[in-house]
Amino acid sequence: EQANIGVVGLAAMGASLSRNLAHHGNTVAVYNRHYSRTEALIAEHGSEGAFIPAKTVEEFVSSLAKPRTAIIMVKAGAPTDAVINELADAMEPGDIIVDGGNAYFEDTIRREKDIRARGLHFVGCGISGGEEGALKGPSMMPGGTDESWKTLGPILKSIAAVAEGEPCVTHIGTDGAGHFVKMVHNGIEYADMQVIAESYDLLRRGLGMEPSEIAEVFAEWNKGDLNSYLIEITAEVLGHKDAKTGKPFVDIVVDQAGMKGTGTWTVQTALSLGTPVTGIGEAVFARGLSSEAALRDEAASKGLEGPDPEGAFAEALKDDESRKAFIEDVRQALYASKIVAYAQGFNEIEKGAKQYGWDIDLGAVARIWRGGCIIRAKFLNRISDAYDSSETFGSLLFDPFFKDAVAKAQTSWRRVVSKAAEAGVPVPMFSSSLAYYDGLRSKRLPAALIQGQRDLFGAHTYFRVDESGAFHTLWAEPGQKEIEQG
Ligand code: 6PG
Repeated sequence: EQANIGVVGLAAMGASLSRNLAHHGNTVAVYNRHYSRTEALIAEHGSEGAFIPAKTVEEFVSSLAKPRTAIIMVKAGAPTDAVINELADAMEPGDIIVDGGNAYFEDTIRREKDIRARGLHFVGCGISGGEEGALKGPSMMPGGTDESWKTLGPILKSIAAVAEGEPCVTHIGTDGAGHFVKMVHNGIEYADMQVIAESYDLLRRGLGMEPSEIAEVFAEWNKGDLNSYLIEITAEVLGHKDAKTGKPFVDIVVDQAGMKGTGTWTVQTALSLGTPVTGIGEAVFARGLSSEAALRDEAASKGLEGPDPEGAFAEALKDDESRKAFIEDVRQALYASKIVAYAQGFNEIEKGAKQYGWDIDLGAVARIWRGGCIIRAKFLNRISDAYDSSETFGSLLFDPFFKDAVAKAQTSWRRVVSKAAEAGVPVPMFSSSLAYYDGLRSKRLPAALIQGQRDLFGAHTYFRVDESGAFHTLWAEPGQKEIEQG
């Protein structure tokens, strides 16, 4: 018997994905550079389904039925390129190579072009949901040709998470579209995690609540509009006690957030596309600042001045009712900032699609994020509804549901941002998202003044509100003559 699908790279993600494929009736060829990993997989899980272990790439390729379809689950960068080349050398025209890692979408565009030139298909496929998702049902974002989707689609649908009866996978677009969308997914993941962290910080430092009490607040929030995987696991992390010391787990963890690059790519790409993703940007920068250990030590030793947080929270700490009111304000601030971050992320996908010539259905993207992935959340149902209606054109913030949600949240949101500033507790996402929202709704922005400055020092010209054409003012001339520039 031949395999209908193969997996190369059997570390945590690859092994879980192979088992998921086998659990759903696929015959799975498996290959790993070191055969011991392949042996371990077969020894521990071989009875779960049909596997064909291979010792060499040639053996792996010949165990696949045509069109041969192989998913690569190895480290992004050079290891991915190496495996792609080995496979392409052993495969034949019409075969399909799928990269399931977190590759940079520009690399995917390049690889797709190279592989297509050799007559094969190359599919960059974003896979979200971590190890558990890979095993029990991930959300998947494949790019590549329509033709490759014909073979790959049914296989991926067989293993995807299911949300509201639909598999969480769709053909995103050609070449790098899938990895692009996965990149933005990760940026949004960073933003989601950051707004949650800011909320925790305010409740901890502002209201002086214990992690276990805050865990209860998140568990409560998880029952409402904020219902999501990340809120759910936040309650779990905050409720967790360190086995060694009995202390709250969050208190024994070094406060320096790591990152592997996808959030940074999202922001770099947004900058190139000229689309503001302030929320994701602040989330990346906040992780960066947290990891500047030496600088933070230096700041501590220099004793940088700040206000007394207790003074700022005196009102909120007055009685139980005031505390509850402040907690609700924080919930609203989280919700509004989260909506802004998603609005910005979807705008980046829209801009990217335009720039790279992809036909991306934003409603479908929201639908496949409802299950399996790290940012899965109830409110993605609302986002898919929003993009399926025509009223969202331009921004999620224009959709009646979200417009109303933010309108209801804004007073709380403003109170939280000003309280935090008064208390000296950093809330970069809450405040920058609010600034974006206010900027977006402002009739006139001080950008007019910036245009004036640019024209004065560099003759960069400006447009007038009352006449068409580009103008330059001769600032040094008496009476400041204005000339129209060609
Ligand atoms: C997912 C995740 C996953 C990613 C991390 C990395 O969708 O399952 O995005 O792909 O490995 O979450 O994020 P860091 O940059 O924080 O390490």
